Amino acid sequence: MIKFHILTLFPDLFSGFLKESILARAQKQGLIEIYVYNLRDWGIGKHNQVDDSPYGGGTGMVIMMEPIDVAIKEITKDWMPKKNRKILLTPQGKIYNQKKAEDLSKYENVLLICGRYEGFDERIRALVDEELSIGNYILNGGEVAAMAVVESVFRLLPGVLTKEEATRIETFHDGLLEYPQYTRPEDYYGKKVPPVLLSGNHAKIEKWRHEQAVKKTIEKRPDLLDGRD
Ligand SMILES: C[S@@+](CC[C@H](N)C(=O)[O-])C[C@H]1O[C@@H](n2cnc3c(N)ncnc32)[C@H](O)[C@@H]1O
Repeated sequence: MIKFHILTLFPDLFSGFLKESILARAQKQGLIEIYVYNLRDWGIGKHNQVDDSPYGGGTGMVIMMEPIDVAIKEITKDWMPKKNRKILLTPQGKIYNQKKAEDLSKYENVLLICGRYEGFDERIRALVDEELSIGNYILNGGEVAAMAVVESVFRLLPGVLTKEEATRIETFHDGLLEYPQYTRPEDYYGKKVPPVLLSGNHAKIEKWRHEQAVKKTIEKRPDLLDGRD
């Protein structure tokens, strides 16, 4: 069981996300708990201020140290350090990947802090265990990044996917892209399904799929094969 804690200025963005599909099922089954916190609740003064203009000048607003510091302290007050992870979502972080999803799936509590505006007061970086980016592009806020992390982690937890879903071999399994998949019809205006898949010979199909996965990876993502024979 894993608990995600999401700190955001836009909690409503998560309402649809949390209520649908496998994520809704996993919550009902008690395999995952997700808590969404409004950073504004830790805002300062009667306007619950969370951001301010940058020292030294410049455009935009910067998220202040205090609301985040106090929020982290309150949210994590009962956490045992070793089994928990505090993560700042930022384009300056390490690029998130499947390996990181696997690592995170072993924690009991994961806090995901979503920024907005011009980002965080630099001193906030020292309050977390790590900084993660979901790619080399700029989003308006960390919420979509938090959803990507939640979705990629929780599906790895035992019992979340059905047996059939869980045994599927997917892209990045074994460091390869997934083999090509086809469904009906067998012949779509002359574009045919490879005959081996219709042969019923499971050994041959497995061999073909592995070869295709390697071929696809060489063609599309040779970087995944770095350091391999
Ligand atoms: C407009 S961005 C701020 C970018 C910041 N000025 C910078 O250059 O690092 C606002 C927030 O969106 C989130 N964000 C934007 N791009 C992201 C990415 N690639 N991965 C994770 N979070 C991202 C972060 O939480 C960030 O604080």
